Amino acid sequence: MRLWGIAENPPLDPAFERLNASLPFDRRLYPQDIRGSIAWARALARAGILSPEEQQAIEEGLQRVREELDAGTFPFHPTDEDIHTAVERRLTERIGPAAGKLHTGRSRNDQVATDLRLFLMDEWPALEGGLRALEEALIRQAEAHLELLMPGYTHLQRAQPIRYAQWCLAHAWAFERDRERLREAFPRLATLPLGSGALAGTPFPIDREALARELGFHQVSPNSLDAVSDRDFVAEFLFIAAMIGVHLSRLAEDLILFASAEFGFIELDPAYTTGSSLMPQKRNPDALELARAKAGRLLGHLVGFLAALKGLPSGYNKDLQEDKEPVFDAVDTLRAVLAVMPGLIATMRPRPERMRAALEEAMLATELADYLVRRGVPFREAHRAVSALLQEALREGQALSTLPLERMRWHHPAFEADVFAALDPEAAVERRAAVGGTARAAVEAQIRALRARLAPAGFR
Ligand code: ARG
Repeated sequence: MRLWGIAENPPLDPAFERLNASLPFDRRLYPQDIRGSIAWARALARAGILSPEEQQAIEEGLQRVREELDAGTFPFHPTDEDIHTAVERRLTERIGPAAGKLHTGRSRNDQVATDLRLFLMDEWPALEGGLRALEEALIRQAEAHLELLMPGYTHLQRAQPIRYAQWCLAHAWAFERDRERLREAFPRLATLPLGSGALAGTPFPIDREALARELGFHQVSPNSLDAVSDRDFVAEFLFIAAMIGVHLSRLAEDLILFASAEFGFIELDPAYTTGSSLMPQKRNPDALELARAKAGRLLGHLVGFLAALKGLPSGYNKDLQEDKEPVFDAVDTLRAVLAVMPGLIATMRPRPERMRAALEEAMLATELADYLVRRGVPFREAHRAVSALLQEALREGQALSTLPLERMRWHHPAFEADVFAALDPEAAVERRAAVGGTARAAVEAQIRALRARLAPAGFR
């Protein structure tokens, strides 16, 4: 018999039974479900609903059930609808009628919301740790190659020289914001729904604050109806996951380009590439391509789940059962990618000669304009003069640095002999010394700032 049924109920259509069941995926919540039930039994005992003996029997019974689930010997039954009903059925088989008291004052509605929150609370440190490892790998790349210059791009066109370290740290800062998002979302996630009953609250004198402390929650939900309806914590997690996915895919795309023969800026360690079955010369950046693609499914989970939430009436609705699969898949996807990326970043090798060769002189055109600006010329006027100069040089196939000074002065009289010193990528980079710039000191300051943020272990 079903947990919620009576013997006279007609049987369910087996196809509906399969559609309705969440056990195939929510069995993964069993550690959280059992932890929550043990804490609930203790809260019931503190409220005088369970005798100490009953509470003891329930707690020990639940431990045995967990051992069966751990060992894979738990006997699932065809009528087990979800992990919550399966655990309670098994507990009844093991300890008898006392098990029937466990669900007093509780509903699967506050139970399932509690379990899923606990699940994510348990996953948070691994996600934070993955981001941290990736940031550390990027910072180490930056530190190891502080002197190295490369082209910076806009519209994927060579724009201005930057330090390779500036590129590394640009990605590190994005992941640092993701880590901050996890940290900031945690207190909202760690809000206890248990004790909300089906929707109206529990009719027994449960000390919910004590229950929250016991389970590691930061606070209790302030409204029972909100607590059982709310899945913002899922949507918020899926957003953070999607954002991490998008950041990972941008990093991956940069590196796929940089590792191509056309750019040749980066050499990936062979441990992260595959060979071609047909073309022996190829090394394919599969790890990065997968990292890039996984962002798509993470985005899909966010949008799909928000669509499921939209328009739901207040209270629990079975639609909410759809919260679990996107959560599990997002967690697994991120864990899989974050397990690979730090190693890939730590082992890749920049190719200075290729970066240097790509630093063409035209990228220093802005320097000429800035040179004029420093001599009091309005920027727009300087820009016009340098554009004309550059076009002329390109037409004639001349390098800027080999143009006679007279030709430059013809385009603008403020050019002097010292203009040629401006045409040095190193000098261009070093001029960008304001906070956040690509000058060496500004880059070193970024490294110190990131390291300071990473210094405290954990994230709370
Ligand atoms: N399996 C359900 C879920 O995952 C548990 C809650 C069921 N609640 C109910 N009122 N039917 O959402």
